[in-house]
Amino acid sequence: MKLRNRLVAAVTGVTVVALALSFVPLYLLIRALEISDLDNALFRQATALAQHLPGTYYAGHPLDEGHADVPESIDPTPRYTAIYGPDTRLESASESFAGQAPASLAALGLRRALPWDGVAVDLELGETRLRGVVMPTGDQGEALLYAVSKSTVEDDTATLFELLLLIFVCAAGATALIARWLGERLARDVHSVAHVARLVAEGDLAARVGDPRAMGADETRSLASDLDHMISRLDEVVSSQRRFISHAAHELRSPLASLRGELQLALRRDRDVDGYRAALREMLSSVDALIALAEDLLRLARAQGGAPATRARAKVADIVREALRMARGHVDDRGVTITVPPAIDEFPVEVRGAAADLARALRNLIDNAVVHSPPGGEVRVEVVVVEGGVELAVVDQGPGIPVEDQPHIFTPFFRGAGGESHEGAGLGLSIARGLTENSGGRLALDPRHTGGARMVLHLAFAENVSPA
Ligand SMILES: Nc1ncnc2c1ncn2[C@@H]1O[C@H](COP(=O)(O)OP(=O)(O)O)[C@@H](O)[C@H]1O
Ligand SMILES: [Mg+2]
Repeated sequence: MKLRNRLVAAVTGVTVVALALSFVPLYLLIRALEISDLDNALFRQATALAQHLPGTYYAGHPLDEGHADVPESIDPTPRYTAIYGPDTRLESASESFAGQAPASLAALGLRRALPWDGVAVDLELGETRLRGVVMPTGDQGEALLYAVSKSTVEDDTATLFELLLLIFVCAAGATALIARWLGERLARDVHSVAHVARLVAEGDLAARVGDPRAMGADETRSLASDLDHMISRLDEVVSSQRRFISHAAHELRSPLASLRGELQLALRRDRDVDGYRAALREMLSSVDALIALAEDLLRLARAQGGAPATRARAKVADIVREALRMARGHVDDRGVTITVPPAIDEFPVEVRGAAADLARALRNLIDNAVVHSPPGGEVRVEVVVVEGGVELAVVDQGPGIPVEDQPHIFTPFFRGAGGESHEGAGLGLSIARGLTENSGGRLALDPRHTGGARMVLHLAFAENVSPA
């Protein structure tokens, strides 16, 4: 069932039931009150008349016409009076009865002795319906019937009925219309959200619900803005994936192209064994570059998609030692020396994360520092205990990172000016950051340091990590 119809049915149904439950008792109550008012007036007047009877009537003579005093009636209302004798037979009636007064009390449905204060009765005179009271006037069944037309009460209750019916119909109709309007608005909002979701599913990442203020309800408004936000994020992720793939392909192409060139060259002319050996060595270095790139891509994919290694813990001393080993010792060909704190092997602190991952991150920082150092320069690894953990900083004496490059250095494949001079593909820092964040740590450039770059790894203490 459609949302709109469901809403209309529910709201209108509830309104109809609520109105009926309040109007029916109200109608019955007002009607009963009107009848009881009329009865009281009739009793009063009948009692007064009964006291004057003996002197004013003779059996067999018509009774005085006269008028009754009826509540809420402005016009004088003709009264209908009749007198019944000792055997409850009609003795005399007013002319208003036109000779049709009930012949006995039994004809009025009264078969038993009357109560001393009388009884109210309904009777019909042809088309006219009357309301009357019967008062006892003697011990032998004598009685006085005093009645008036019921039309005032009936007119009043009919008017009341019409009024209540009108309110009922208008209220039910208005509620149905409002519910329909609300339902349509809500359904329209849901439709536009669903439409955008379908477009996105079909691959249109430019689709947006648009201005959330056009939505009818707070809930749909926040649903629309959440959906738009999600599509924007999705769009960013997809574009960055595309950029990544095109960069990766580009990076893979250059070593492959040079490998192809070397192969073509080797095939073009015959050489001696040493010549082939030299050609093979060159090809091997191209293959090594390809393997290194493939490994870096794999590492980056793992670092970015990996679940955080929350249970692993590592000794800071092991991390530093392993990073140095991978960075191939303390001194490189250009005489760049790497120094670490003297008592690092006895440093007792453990941090959160896997030793191999953190050593790989530190090694990438050291590699960069060595590459950017001047010949004979010094790369210093600093270890400082800070609030909540340990900071491993790598400081070099190179040119530092230009301010305009600083926001981009952690983006995959970004290489700053002069980055083409060495063989990195611009993945080192992205990998280092991914691995560090997976271990619950942070990696950042120290922006206050001047004269060379200072990269800082902040690693959390392992105190709350249970040994894996
Ligand atoms: N110690 C450093 N000194 C100067 N520039 C650096 C340093 N470390 C990183 N960079 C800059 O950041 C860029 C990205 O570094 P990285 O991700 O390791 O890629 P790659 O080393 O392959 O170029 C480098 O190209 C370089 O411009
Ligand atoms: Mg690098």
